[in-house]
Order: sequence, then C-alpha cells, then structure tokens
Amino acid sequence: MTEQQPAEAHEQRILGTELLWAFGVGVLVAAVLGMIVFTALTRNINPPSNVERIDPKTLHLSGEFAEQNLGTSVGADGSVTVRAIATQFMFVPHCIAVPRGRPVTLRFATPDVIHGLLITGTNVNTMVVPGFVSQVYTTFTSTGDLLMPCHEYCGLGHSEMWATVQLMLDDQFKPDRDGRVSCAQR
Ligand code: CUA
Repeated sequence: MTEQQPAEAHEQRILGTELLWAFGVGVLVAAVLGMIVFTALTRNINPPSNVERIDPKTLHLSGEFAEQNLGTSVGADGSVTVRAIATQFMFVPHCIAVPRGRPVTLRFATPDVIHGLLITGTNVNTMVVPGFVSQVYTTFTSTGDLLMPCHEYCGLGHSEMWATVQLMLDDQFKPDRDGRVSCAQR
C-alpha cells in the first residue's frame, strides 16, 4: 500500500494537468464560438447564407446567366441587379456599370472552378463556388473606377483575372429600353 501511494499521486497530477488543459481549450473554443456569434449578430459578418443552387454545366445556356442577361439591369421598381460569370480566366462582363448611392444586388456564378472576388474599397468580397449563386448587396459611395480582381487561385491565368466596376452618377446611369446599363467608353 505504501508503495502505491506515489503512483497514485502521480496519476492525480496527470489527471489534474489534463483537466487544466481541457479547461483551457474549452475556454478558447467558447471564446471563438462567442466571437463568431457576436460578429454574425452585430457586424453582419456571416458565411454566405443564401444557399442557391445552379447547374454549372448549363448555366450559360439559358436563364439569368445566359450571355444576353449578364451585366447590369434595372427592374421596373428601380432595383439594380448585376449578373456576372467568373470563369477561367476572366469575368464576364469585363466592365460592370453601377450607380452611386443606390442599393445594388450582385449575383455571380461560375461554370468551372472556385473563384473569389472583391471590389476594392468596398465591403464586397465573396467566393464564387461551382454549383451555387453568390449574392452580395452593397451601396457604392465613391465615384470612378474600382478594380475587381479574382482573389482565389484558380489556375495559371489567375493573376490576369479581373474586371472593372464603373461607378456612375445619376445623370450617367441611364438604362436603355431593356433596362440595361453598360459601361461608358472612357
Ligand atoms: Cu479566378 Cu483566380
């Protein structure tokens, strides 16, 4: 019995250390989860929430991502929607016209691999994943041209993949008869 006591004490020490580590890790996990919930609720930082599927093999054939429907369109209610395709190694269209100071809905899809995009100086930043539509809302407050690079490595031409976002004032942002707006030649 007296010989076992040191071994038992040793076991107790190991258990104590393990519990201490488990407690520490538990606190860390709780802190990270808490931060995620906090930013999601208060800062609107969320994983993409709208799970909207689209078949990457046929998206170019018909529907909103067919070539004639890409670009900027203004609905009867004045809502502005941008549709673009991210594909190896370009964005279609290469230039996107948007109004300043009005809410804009941006919708992206890809027929090939995962791309990502951001619009410099704005809060627009999303992945574009095959099989899903990526939808982002924003209101542009600056003027001039903004760069929209692909920010997810998508192949050898990745660094050549970018588009321009052309911000227009109200007197420039004039939809045609079909409600479409294209970039002005500058
Ligand atoms: Cu597309 Cu990188």
